[in-house]
Amino acid sequence: MRILYAEDYEGMSFNAAKVMASVIINKPDAVLGLATGSSPVGMYEDLADWYRKGIISFRQCRSVNLDEYVGLSPEHNMSYAYFMRENLFKNVDIDMKNVNIPSGLAEDGDAECARYDAVIDSLGGIDIQLLGIGNNGHIGFNEPADHFPLGTHRVTLTDSTIDANKRFFASRDDVPRFAYTMGIKPIMQAKKVLLVASGEGKAEILEKAFFGPVTPEVPASILQMAEDLVVCADRAALSVIMKKHPECVEK
Ligand code: GLP
Repeated sequence: MRILYAEDYEGMSFNAAKVMASVIINKPDAVLGLATGSSPVGMYEDLADWYRKGIISFRQCRSVNLDEYVGLSPEHNMSYAYFMRENLFKNVDIDMKNVNIPSGLAEDGDAECARYDAVIDSLGGIDIQLLGIGNNGHIGFNEPADHFPLGTHRVTLTDSTIDANKRFFASRDDVPRFAYTMGIKPIMQAKKVLLVASGEGKAEILEKAFFGPVTPEVPASILQMAEDLVVCADRAALSVIMKKHPECVEK
């Protein structure tokens, strides 16, 4: 595991964008596992900027997103499909035929989960999986549980996740209660995992996830066993780790 320190959100975004860009440059048809949330927005901006400058191209890239809210159409402005279009896809040259996101409107949830796992398999796995981290340690929408769910599944969002995500919706009642999320297996099988975290609110959970016991109660803790994990975080998010394990942080 590498933990890359940055002073602030911009620095964290820049570090993360470099990791992602290097994968794309070395493998132009890379399979990118993509994530939503406020943490990767700056990284997506840097990548779009480098695309405009001709430094990188997404033309041959394939992508699989981590998750989607059940019940939201791709046109809904709170859907993750919409988020991805606005924050990355419309700003780069990715072929929308190569973009994959679970369908929030699927009528048969089990069939949708099986379809999504088959999509990931058909791509031959993920070259780089980008992740944020929830306040409760969730990755994608893999919420704290008594086991690590391996495949794509439908989750009931926890109260803490609904509270954390209500800032994006008109009211708490508008936050969907369910989501589809990629499971832990394709995340762990990814050749590289890149986790981004910013702000003091993530400081405790980052330390718990990467220096505490590996347990499904903290889903991100499984990443301690990932083959190639890079954590890009800013000073505020690293404040607890810097205190307890300063030797583990690369400045
Ligand atoms: C959501 C997403 C996660 C994301 C998390 C953290 O719940 N499903 O994939 O990592 O929020 O979001 P943020 O980066 O806004 O803190």
